[in-house]
Amino acid sequence: MVKICCIGAGYVGGPTMAVIALKCPAIEVAVVDISVPRIAAWNSDQLPIYEPGLDEIVKQCRGKNLFFSTAVEKHVAEADIIFVSVNTPTKTRGLGAGKAADLTYWESAARMIADVSKSDKIVVEKSTVPVKTAEAIEKILRHNSKGIKYQILSNPEFLAEGTAIEDLFKPDRVLIGGRETPDGQKAIQALKAVYANWVPEDRIITTNLWSAELSKLAANAFLAQRISSVNAMSALCEATGANISEVSHAVGKDTRIGPKFLNASVGFGGSCFQKDILNLVYICECNGLPEVADYWKQVIQVNDYQKSRFVNRVVSSMFNTVSGKKIAILGFAFKKDTGDTRETPAIDVCNGLLGDKAHLSIYDLQVTEEQIRRDLSMKKFDWDHPIHLQPMSPAAAKEVSVAWDAYEAAKGAHGICILTEWDEFKTLDYKKIYDSMHKPAFLFDGRNVVDAVKLREIGFIVYSIGKPL
Ligand code: NAD
Ligand code: UGA
Repeated sequence: MVKICCIGAGYVGGPTMAVIALKCPAIEVAVVDISVPRIAAWNSDQLPIYEPGLDEIVKQCRGKNLFFSTAVEKHVAEADIIFVSVNTPTKTRGLGAGKAADLTYWESAARMIADVSKSDKIVVEKSTVPVKTAEAIEKILRHNSKGIKYQILSNPEFLAEGTAIEDLFKPDRVLIGGRETPDGQKAIQALKAVYANWVPEDRIITTNLWSAELSKLAANAFLAQRISSVNAMSALCEATGANISEVSHAVGKDTRIGPKFLNASVGFGGSCFQKDILNLVYICECNGLPEVADYWKQVIQVNDYQKSRFVNRVVSSMFNTVSGKKIAILGFAFKKDTGDTRETPAIDVCNGLLGDKAHLSIYDLQVTEEQIRRDLSMKKFDWDHPIHLQPMSPAAAKEVSVAWDAYEAAKGAHGICILTEWDEFKTLDYKKIYDSMHKPAFLFDGRNVVDAVKLREIGFIVYSIGKPL
């Protein structure tokens, strides 16, 4: 029986390994992590992450060929294939701070593999890493190898949160990069055989190591660039009377451009787009390509502009001050169908409004009060570095409350901001909400989910991204 071990039981390691276990009954999969509470949650009825369809798969496989454990060294020693799916946040200090990927977790995983291995291993980069990371990992493993042979593969993950299971079941492509040596090619074939249990062969792409590593950064940069492009257009729409939904539709009808990923928003969030573009920018700078670095930097600058533009719009519409006014925040997760708040635009928008002394009442379907308070008390880039955690200042803590539903959040509010596109927000009883609010009642739709015409008939003053007032 082939044994797989995945180091890192997070948003990628958990769902990816659950799907491998489901699709490959002949493979034993162990997912290991240094976080005791995370592993305990994977072994409980309340999984540590919310992802549609995940619970059923874990229930079906757990204890059969899928195991979650903190016995990291034991499972690594026993495995034939080791996926490394640890976090790779942005560095907060030292060389490359604010841009470069922090590979501390990766390096410690690699050193541990070298320490405990007693048989040959295929080590798979699942985390998103800078180009040439495999070379560094190879060095660590080879110099500590005790005669054991390692093959490093790059197998970046392209799943999106909220649709992770769907994406893993039917990936657009699986990408495997490896060394162009006979041993490297053998390792590629071994990993390919795992995916071939459910992924059609023409969707499994094999490349050299550096192409695979760079393709992941490139794919995220292209995706984020599309959003910044449409968001930049949304500002121009507001200035000219064009409607961004109509523009996106017309542009997306060109088959060379395509209709997906063209929704204007308050800005993109998530743990990866910003981090991976910063990483790309840093790599370009290190390789003497400042023009290329500047090009990609703009994607992030437009995203920051979109978030601050939204805050400015709220404040300026509400007579240039939100001081002492209650603002309901509907949605805090970075997108619907997830409880993940990493780099969610809601953090910047809430902090912007708090900076203008607003009182916030926040409601999200999946995000806990504890998480919201933690997010609003952290410095940028610190979310993946728990060491820097600061408690929320008492003043800020008083200005934020967390509501159990949208109606409670909006009761007595002067304005509403929709920051996540949860389906629930499309079908709320907005007449009931309007009746419970101060007048004029403002609604700022950061996701273009409500029917602005109907809401205006009720009496709301509605502002939608990229649409005429
Ligand atoms: P995560 O923070 O949810 O999970 C990482 C886990 O690794 C944590 O539970 C942490 O405790 C564990 N860990 C860290 N060091 C360890 C060690 N030495 N030994 C054992 N466990 C260790 O992160 P994630 O969202 O799953 O992302 C992981 C990687 O995948 C990142 O590089 C990310 O860029 C990439 N990625 C993420 C997504 C996504 O949707 N979240 C999609 C594609 C790729
Ligand atoms: C993204 C990529 O889509 C995945 O392919 C990749 O594997 C992953 O990053 C990663 O490397 O972590 P994810 O961040 O989970 O996945 O979610 P997306 O659906 O890409 O959304 C990212 C952000 O962009 C969200 O805040 C979303 O609301 C926003 N978005 C997305 C828009 O504002 N407009 C759109 O048209 C699409």
